[in-house]
Amino acid sequence: MLNLADNQQMLIAGAALLLATITFIKLLVWSGSRGKHLPPTILALPVVGGLIRFMRGPISMIWEEYARLGSVFTLCILNHKITFLIGPEVSQHFFNGHESELSQQEVYKFTVAAFGPGVSFDVKYSVRLEQIRIFTEAVRGNHLRNYVGQMVSEADEYFTKWGDSGTVDLKYELEQIILLITSRCLLGREVRENLFNDVATLFRDLCNGMQPVSVIFPYLPIPAHRRRDRARARLGEMFSTIIKSRKASGQSEEDMLQRLIDYKYKNGRPTTEGEITGLLIAVLFGGQQTSSITSTWTGAYLLQFKQYFAAAVEEQKEVMKRHGNKIDYDILAEMDVLHRCVKEALRLQPPLPLLFRYSHSDFTVTTKEGKELVVPKGHMVATSPSVANRLPHIYKNPDTYDPNRFAPGRNEDKAAGALSYIPFGGGKHWCIGQLFAYLEIETVWAHLLRNFELELVSPFPESEWNSMVVGVKGELLVKYKRRRLVVGN
Ligand code: HEM
Repeated sequence: MLNLADNQQMLIAGAALLLATITFIKLLVWSGSRGKHLPPTILALPVVGGLIRFMRGPISMIWEEYARLGSVFTLCILNHKITFLIGPEVSQHFFNGHESELSQQEVYKFTVAAFGPGVSFDVKYSVRLEQIRIFTEAVRGNHLRNYVGQMVSEADEYFTKWGDSGTVDLKYELEQIILLITSRCLLGREVRENLFNDVATLFRDLCNGMQPVSVIFPYLPIPAHRRRDRARARLGEMFSTIIKSRKASGQSEEDMLQRLIDYKYKNGRPTTEGEITGLLIAVLFGGQQTSSITSTWTGAYLLQFKQYFAAAVEEQKEVMKRHGNKIDYDILAEMDVLHRCVKEALRLQPPLPLLFRYSHSDFTVTTKEGKELVVPKGHMVATSPSVANRLPHIYKNPDTYDPNRFAPGRNEDKAAGALSYIPFGGGKHWCIGQLFAYLEIETVWAHLLRNFELELVSPFPESEWNSMVVGVKGELLVKYKRRRLVVGN
């Protein structure tokens, strides 16, 4: 029989053995990963330190760590690891990796609560690709040309309700006109003519139900989620009625709704009402806020930096000398100055400042200094258009609003290849709505430049960081005075 002293000795020996074994295993693991060079890890207090730093300001945190650790580093948030890849040199695999290696599904799954079942991140990848193809076809070629006609008449009609002079919140006004255009071109005539106000309210509830907390707990019973669910259900009913009556009438319209109704999957199956509703909501989500935010930032920068406003007005005069007051697809393509002004606003203020993927297998990235780092399987992987678009080795005076950086001869957006400019993402999941977005924003701004003198009366705005899509904080108050551009002056 063992006495107490023997027991204590055995316990101590057992503990020592356990400690030695753990140390040995750690050494083995360490020596194994030593050759692999994992990305450096951000210093933060244990358990919640990383979360606190990230929530306090993800973009300032990325800048600080980029300066300290370089273009690839890992942040530990609770039991998750997020590896950031900053800059074109290290983000090739992020944008071009195969879905089986680096996927969106896990990280964007929270959108299912708003989009509904059977679409986007609720279906297997092959089906999602087919659904994206329907969008792609609906926003290219002749469809786009036809949409421009609708965009122009929406802008003409909307701004007639402004008086001869006054003060407006330009942010609100641009949200409204972009939503009208989106409704008309994508959601269809029925929504635009009869249900616009209802859809606008329901869409607002849907957007407000996509909060940072929704990414981790999409079904948390909070009031914002309950409003989101009610809005989703009501939109489902409304679209179901529209789809039924359109099918019954046999009439075909020039909008995305029609493309979705007419589509048949590769196996011959037609789209269901639920899928059409979900896809319309998804496209509204992808295109509405992003475009209205970009229109607003374009205005803020043009009105703050008056030399660019004047250059854009001059360009309108030149275009009007050739085409009179008309605006169509080809005429918009002649507005290079305006295009660069929008593009530069997007570089400085991308509405989607962080993009995510989930890594299913280890992969290696090589930094521009030639260092090889292995990003392990199981990490979330992120990149940031907000940071990547201001890297000083790509953009000269990166914090300055300078649309001419995109002019021929400078082409800074191509300095380090295709991934130098990423407000629309890049590679495999590059935004399919880019052209549509530019067309609608430029149509609206061409109308404003031709018909109004504008002056910014509120301070230059800050960014609004409390939502998934980052917009303009507060109002953008602008004084306007109606005038017609006199061509030839
Ligand atoms: C200024 C306006 C816009 C911005 C800044 C923007 C930005 C982006 C970005 C960054 C992505 C890539 C997301 C990722 O890689 O995780 C993306 C994808 C996408 N965008 Fe846009 N977008 C805009 C307008 C639009 C419009 C107007 C539409 C529809 C008409 C649209 C539809 C889509 C779709 C369907 C995808 C997913 C493509 C895929 O996964 O293959 N976007 N957008």
